[in-house]
Amino acid sequence: MQENALLEMRDISKEFPGVKALDKVSLTVRPGTVHALMGENGAGKSTLMKCLFGIYSKDGGTIVLDGKEVNFKSSKEALENGVAMVHQELNQALTRSVQDNLWLGRYPTVGGIMVSEGIMRKKTKEIFSDLEVEVDPSAIMRTLPVSKRQMVEIAKAVSYHSKIIVFDEPTSSLTETEVEHLFRIINMLRDQGCGIIYISHKMEEILRISDDVTIMRDGTWVATRPAKELTMDEIIKLMVGRELTNRFPPKTNEPGETILEVEHLSGKYTRLRDASFQLRKGEILGIAGLDGSGRTEVLENLFGAMTKGGGVIKLHGKTIQNRTPKESIKNGFALLTEERRATGIFGIRDIRENTVISNLNSYLMGGICLSDKKMKEDTDWAIQAMHIKTPGQSTQIRALSGGNQQKVIIGRWLLTKPEVLLLDEPTRGIDVGAKYEIYQLIIDLANQGKGVVMVSSEMPELLGVCDRILVMSGGQVAGEVDAKNTSQEEILTLAAKYV
Ligand SMILES: Nc1ncnc2c1ncn2[C@@H]1O[C@H](COP(=O)(O)OP(=O)(O)OP(=O)(O)O)[C@@H](O)[C@H]1O
Ligand SMILES: [Mg+2]
Repeated sequence: MQENALLEMRDISKEFPGVKALDKVSLTVRPGTVHALMGENGAGKSTLMKCLFGIYSKDGGTIVLDGKEVNFKSSKEALENGVAMVHQELNQALTRSVQDNLWLGRYPTVGGIMVSEGIMRKKTKEIFSDLEVEVDPSAIMRTLPVSKRQMVEIAKAVSYHSKIIVFDEPTSSLTETEVEHLFRIINMLRDQGCGIIYISHKMEEILRISDDVTIMRDGTWVATRPAKELTMDEIIKLMVGRELTNRFPPKTNEPGETILEVEHLSGKYTRLRDASFQLRKGEILGIAGLDGSGRTEVLENLFGAMTKGGGVIKLHGKTIQNRTPKESIKNGFALLTEERRATGIFGIRDIRENTVISNLNSYLMGGICLSDKKMKEDTDWAIQAMHIKTPGQSTQIRALSGGNQQKVIIGRWLLTKPEVLLLDEPTRGIDVGAKYEIYQLIIDLANQGKGVVMVSSEMPELLGVCDRILVMSGGQVAGEVDAKNTSQEEILTLAAKYV
C-alpha cells in the first residue's frame, strides 16, 4: 500500500462479452483530495467505479480501502463500508417521494424499530439544510426537474458519511448555480478528509476542482499527474492518444434563403416572451444565455413540447402551428432534448431499436412490415458516423457507456431527416474527440440545406460552429450577433441585459 493512500485499486481487470472494459487499471486516492478520472466515452471510467462499488465483480486485481483489502459484493455493502457513489444514470423511484428515495434500503431505525414518517422527515430536512439543498422532501420524484433530482442524489450520497465518494458525471444535468453549489459541497467533503473521485468531460471543471488526475484510454491506465501540472491540451492528448490540433472542423456551410420565421413567440407557463428570429437554409443558429434565460424554452415552444402563449411560426412563408411534437415532426422539425438520457432511452432495447424508433414510418414496406435491411443500414450509419463504441447493433443500449448512449439518441434524431433541427446541448456528456464528429455532422447537415438551431452553454462551441448567435436574457432575446465578429465578452454582456 502506498503511503498516505485512502483507496488503492491495483491492476483491476474486467471483461464483458466481446469487450475488455478494464485491463489492469490502477488508481490511488489520497485522503482530503479530489481525484479526477478522465478518458473518452467508453474508456472504462464508470466500469472501474462500479467494480469498486460492488455493482460489477472484477475479474482480477485488488482493492485496498483504509489499509484493508475489500471486495464488495453489492452496493449496499459498499455503502456500509464507507464508499458512496452518484451514478451517471439516475436510477430513482420516480413515483415515490424525495424522502423515500433518500432512505430507500436503509430506513432509519431506533433500537431495531423503524422510525416514524415524522422523524424521517426531520432527518431529511436536516440533511438538506446542512447541504443547503432546497427540495421539498415530500415532493414526488417525477415532478422534479432532472437537475433537482440530481441534487437529491448528491445529498443522498453525502448523507452516508462515506470515506470515498464517487461522482460520475454529476454536473451533466445541473444548472450553473447548482454546479457552484456542488463544488462547495465537494470542498467541504475534501476539508473533512474524504477522498473524492470525480468523473467529467468538462475540462474547465476538472482543472478547477481536482488535485490529482488519472487518465484512461481503451480500458487501460495512461497517466496519473497532479492537476496543476496539466494543461487542457495535455489532458486531451493523453486521452485521445494524439494531438488534437483543431477542436472544430472547418465551416463549409453557406446560409441561403430564409426558411423559418419566428415572430413574438411566448410561452404560456414560462418566462419566454416575444422572441423573434429567422433561420436560413444551411444556417447554424446558436442560442446563448445563462441558465433560466429561456434558451431551452425557445426550442421547446417552437417544437410544441411546451404550450405556447402566443406567436407566429412560418415555414417557407406559410404559417404553421407546431402544437405538439407529433405535429412538428410532420412539419419537418426534430428536437434533441437536453435531458435525453433521463427521458429518451429505452434501456433494455438494443441499439438498432433505439436508433430507428422515431423514424419507423420510413421503414414501412407496403405499409405493413418494417424493412430490416434499411434499419440495419441506418443503424450502421449512425454507429460509424459518430464512432459509437459497441460490439454490435443488437447490444442493449444500457450496456453502452453513458456518452455512447447519447450518441445513439443523436443518431435517432438525425435519421428523421428533419428540415429544421433543434439541438439542446448536443455535446453534453460527449468526450472531446467525439465532439468533433458531432460538430462535423451538424455542419454536414447545414451543407445539405437543413436549418439548425443549437442551444449551448459552452461559448467556444457556439463561436466555433454557428453562423449567428441569438442571446437570451430573462426570457427575452437580448440581441443577435454574427459568430465571426463577436466575442465572449459581447455575448456575456447581452446575456446579462435583462437579468
Ligand atoms: N454491462 C455491460 N455490458 C457490456 N458491456 C459493457 C457494460 N458496461 C460497460 N460496458 C462496456 O465497457 C466499456 C467501458 O464502458 P464505461 O461505461 O466504463 O465507459 P466510460 O469511460 O464511463 O464512458 P462515458 O464517458 O461514455 O461514460 C464500453 O465499451 C462499454 O460498452
Ligand atoms: Mg461513464
